Amino acid sequence: MKYLSMDDFNLRGKTVFVRVDVNSPVDPISGKILDYSRFEAHRRTLMELRRSKVVILAHQSRPGKRDYISLRNHAEVFTKILNRKVEFVEDLFGKLAREKIENMSSGDYILLENTRFYAEEYCLKKGDFGETNIVRNLAPLGDFFINDAFAAAHRAQTTLVGFASKMPMLAGRLMEKEIEMLTHFMVMDEHPKVAVFGGAKADDSITVMENFLNNGIVDKVLTGGVVAYFFLIAKGYDLGEGSMAYLEKEFDDYTKYVERASKLIEKYDDMIEIPVDVVVNNDGKRKALTVDELPNPKPIYDIGLDTAIKYMGILRNAKGIVLNGPMGVFEIPEFEVGTLEVYKGVAESSAFKVAGGGHTIAAIEKYGLKRYFDHISTGGGALITFLSGGKMPVIEALERSYEEYQP
Ligand code: 3PG
Repeated sequence: MKYLSMDDFNLRGKTVFVRVDVNSPVDPISGKILDYSRFEAHRRTLMELRRSKVVILAHQSRPGKRDYISLRNHAEVFTKILNRKVEFVEDLFGKLAREKIENMSSGDYILLENTRFYAEEYCLKKGDFGETNIVRNLAPLGDFFINDAFAAAHRAQTTLVGFASKMPMLAGRLMEKEIEMLTHFMVMDEHPKVAVFGGAKADDSITVMENFLNNGIVDKVLTGGVVAYFFLIAKGYDLGEGSMAYLEKEFDDYTKYVERASKLIEKYDDMIEIPVDVVVNNDGKRKALTVDELPNPKPIYDIGLDTAIKYMGILRNAKGIVLNGPMGVFEIPEFEVGTLEVYKGVAESSAFKVAGGGHTIAAIEKYGLKRYFDHISTGGGALITFLSGGKMPVIEALERSYEEYQP
């Protein structure tokens, strides 16, 4: 994978567009941004550009959602994080935005309006992104385009890919780190490599597992959370009313995931670990049982201790670990033991460790384990697409730009 980086050009005094991803949770009433971690992740890229004229482009949420808001508050958060004024401009490619850009001095930072407020950003299915009004109006004003939006790298949208043919598109520092670290896990030759999948996004987890197992990327998969439900069912366990009611409510057709889990078990039984014991939510209290004691009418809320101990043993010998999803409902202290123990097991292992996903990061932060990880990805869907070997239009655009503009 070859792409241009910020080291390849002298950016001093230049007008540089920087596409970031600061799509963040927002309080629906006050519009206050609730988590600054994506802003912080772009700090290095933005601070390195303090001698350039920096025009930041970003999106927030999607049309129709409650947190689909203007980026005014985002500019304030950037101002705090960078400790320098980031001016908000309520326009993307109209007269106001263009005049602002033309009148910038080195050291100035502006943030343009939510790119998704403009249909050209997300409505083009196949069209030529480079020929949109957004690109046509903005491109003549800029010298370089830095793409740091790894978390949106699985999207083909105008401000993510459209500038690549108009000026050199360089990977920002965050983009570089994400690609490097995740690729390292995928290709590293030291084994065993272990993937830990939990949480409720079973569809995503199974998709990544298929890629990991079919291509020999990992040697072991450890399952927890709702992901483990599907593998337990595929192995023939009857979970009981509470857990089944959850699957019926939360998944359109949960049986298709059971089928995919069964196929994986058929091929890779000895590589997929499923819980040997679980904890059900017995009116707010933990009740532990072995999987042979299932079904139970109460829903499963955690893996059991024997499972956690077994998983910790596997993690201890790992050379590479990818962690995605909690082992149970860790937000409720009564059901956090499985997540806490397994996450501590990951942290204590000397393996190369990467993690990602909203709940995963929340749990890592809750237990103060962040410093033990080699990399914590900012990507949600992008991370899953990358790990499952799917198409990453932004990375493809960076590769094209390398071919065209390599110095
Ligand atoms: C994310 O938050 O995962 C990215 O910003 C992409 O958002 P999207 O799924 O709305 O395109």
